[in-house]
Amino acid sequence: MEDKLLIKIAMEAREKAYTPYSKFKVGAAVYTKSGKIFTGCNIESASYTPTICAERVAISKCISEGYYDIEKIAIIGSEKDISHPCGVCRQFMVEFGKDMKVICAKNIDTYKVYTLAELLPNSFGPESLI
Ligand code: THU
Repeated sequence: MEDKLLIKIAMEAREKAYTPYSKFKVGAAVYTKSGKIFTGCNIESASYTPTICAERVAISKCISEGYYDIEKIAIIGSEKDISHPCGVCRQFMVEFGKDMKVICAKNIDTYKVYTLAELLPNSFGPESLI
């Protein structure tokens, strides 16, 4: 799966974002090593705290369908700038692999690719509890 195609899929997912409060729409698309794609968008709540980010929706759909082998995730928010995942999402992601590729996009042509370890160095993850 090309990074650009995964960004395009994330852009399509962004159209579903439910953002009556911030109006800031985010889309995410996960690609697994086994070739599956899962998408997500942010979903806001009138009581604010339950709001969930696009990344965690996509990853939750992936994990809850039994796919734990995440290879990469593409994220796209406002096209004014490249969108990087929030701290909570970085921590949520690290559960499923520090070597995960994180594609942070502004549009289909402008994006940066990181490993999760670069975005969350010295992380507390599953191996920390052994
Ligand atoms: N948001 C995401 O979906 N992903 C992030 O990584 C950062 C923030 C959402 C949450 C909220 O609905 C809106 O963007 C503004 O914070």
